[in-house]
Amino acid sequence: MSAPNKSYDPVEVTALRPEELDRARDDAIAAIAAASGLAELKEARIAHAGDRSPLALANREIGALPPAARAEAGKRIGAARGAVSQALKQRQAELEEERDQRVLVEEAVDVTLPWDRTPRGARHPLTTIQERMADVFVSMGFEVAEGPEVEAEWFNFDALNFKPDHPARTMQDTFFVESEDTGLVLRTHTSPVQVRSLLTRPLPVYVVAPGRTFRTDELDATHSPVFHQLEGLAIDEGLTMADLRGAIDAFVTGMFGAGLAVRMRPSYFPFTEPSAEVDMQCFVCRGASVERGAPPCRTCGSEGWIELGGCGMVNPRVLVAAGVDAERYSGWAFGLGVERTLMFRHGVEDMHDMVEGDVRFALPFGMEI
Ligand code: DAH
Repeated sequence: MSAPNKSYDPVEVTALRPEELDRARDDAIAAIAAASGLAELKEARIAHAGDRSPLALANREIGALPPAARAEAGKRIGAARGAVSQALKQRQAELEEERDQRVLVEEAVDVTLPWDRTPRGARHPLTTIQERMADVFVSMGFEVAEGPEVEAEWFNFDALNFKPDHPARTMQDTFFVESEDTGLVLRTHTSPVQVRSLLTRPLPVYVVAPGRTFRTDELDATHSPVFHQLEGLAIDEGLTMADLRGAIDAFVTGMFGAGLAVRMRPSYFPFTEPSAEVDMQCFVCRGASVERGAPPCRTCGSEGWIELGGCGMVNPRVLVAAGVDAERYSGWAFGLGVERTLMFRHGVEDMHDMVEGDVRFALPFGMEI
């Protein structure tokens, strides 16, 4: 009847025209060449070589051609797809090579970089100087004794001959543990360890007790509510103040070197009789700064002397409270400030440095041998 209907029997399909196939191939090759990374190349592969790519879609149209034209079209598509897959393979290899080179550079370990970025800690200078102070006495045969920081009022005051109305017992000086009738305080000094040692050790007793002590002071350059003392106690038959003097002399030599004078000034403590404040000659100016016209000394404030602490012959009342025969035994005691010792021995001028916990303050002290 009529000529064959073109739409049902096409002799030509647009997508299969040679120029269309060449364009699809060239677009694909351009996109592949433009891919600057493996992810982009993957996108190009999907767009130009995937199931829905122009060449794949064109391939599906082959069946619509008259049989005689199919082989020719198939060949052309095959050549175009071959060129695309060849380009993909080549670009894939190039980009992988680039990535490998980059990884080699980026993941290289620079062995010259600093490795110890996390600073190491350091022992606190108060701890080390306290041990050093105690060691001087340990070398003379003393033992190290300990007592609790939360202490019975009886050990902290009563047994040490503080009368019930002694001002040190007030809340202005002492931290009481709630409620007030617990009879517990934060120890205000290390002296209660004297009584504890006498109650628990056989005589004679030679002990030092380093430790933390508490008073209701505000923190400032020279005070802290938490501080440290080194207590000393020697109870034996026939001990005198001369032995105390000798022990302090040995301490000063052990900590500051030989040839420094020690002096005692009369004082008062309820638990010693007689009592004294003990000073050592300034180890920096050796007393010279008191002379007229001499250069000032920062360590002793040009006093020539440095205050070490308190001492004295143990009051027989303390011995009796601790169950010691005060007719037979006598002895002496002392209490030295650890912070004070650190301050003048090392020129630490501000208490804040000791309590703030900055490792940069503590580290240099670790160098001391
Ligand atoms: N406990 C006294 C204080 O904290 C210091 C002291 C003085 C201790 C004389 C002693 C001593 O052992 O004999 O101020």
